[in-house]
Amino acid sequence: MAEQDSAEAKDYSVHIPYERQGFHLKGMDHADWGMQNRMARIFPPATGRTLMLAFDHGYIMGSTAGLERLDLAIPPLLEHADVLMATRGALRAAVPPGHGKAIALRCTAGSSVLDEDMSHEVIGVAVEDAIRMNASCMAVQVFIGAPGERSSIDNLVRTTRYFLLATRMVAELGAAIIKTYYCDSFEKVTAGCPVPVVIAGGKKLPEAEALEMAFRAIREGAAGVDMGRNVFQAQDPPAMIQAIRTVVHQGFSGRQAFEFYEETRRQSK
Ligand code: 5RP
Repeated sequence: MAEQDSAEAKDYSVHIPYERQGFHLKGMDHADWGMQNRMARIFPPATGRTLMLAFDHGYIMGSTAGLERLDLAIPPLLEHADVLMATRGALRAAVPPGHGKAIALRCTAGSSVLDEDMSHEVIGVAVEDAIRMNASCMAVQVFIGAPGERSSIDNLVRTTRYFLLATRMVAELGAAIIKTYYCDSFEKVTAGCPVPVVIAGGKKLPEAEALEMAFRAIREGAAGVDMGRNVFQAQDPPAMIQAIRTVVHQGFSGRQAFEFYEETRRQSK
């Protein structure tokens, strides 16, 4: 038990009003402290943006080019990411528990690339298990307009209209962060979505194009990127993740980031 304190409590600074602090991410002003704390780990307040490294591909693709040996591919990239987006198995295999990065834990399961219709995923990780992995957020995948969606939405292809609808629906259903693909008129997608949007990289592109896409996404309102194949399938993955970082956190253009990539490659040889 604490000892009795003889000093009188009297310094209440009554003339200093309490500061009302807004939160730096949209849609989160009224979230609980713990939620804001986890979101701030994902989107560091210094820029309000995030660089997620995605390496959860094995949960549907099995051994994926660039990720054949998780234990060799991932450690050199860890220090450059804000968030690690992965399955429990990949984290256990490749990431030391003392790494200190935020975790976006892949929590859906059920389909594989062998199945023509991959839209029937279910939640495969319980909240308690996500807590055991110290996840900052649980990543679930939805397939709006696909056969696995309960009510079908007619005639939707992956157009701006599709992404406007899908991102908004998922946000209104309660998601705190939306990951989607980049598309034309992306500024409308980010403007119409009440929570932060990050882009997935998608299939491997030439490095300059991937960096230009990241730049455009950020310029058009994305709060970050969650890129996998364009990092670990790049000719120089550590240089590539650092180049993406310059776009996300330092305001580099796609061209500047590509020059940075080339220079970083040269120096590491
Ligand atoms: C794999 C995923 C990935 O996390 C997501 O697609 C990002 O990776 P990439 O940039 O390679 O598309 O959901 O199932």
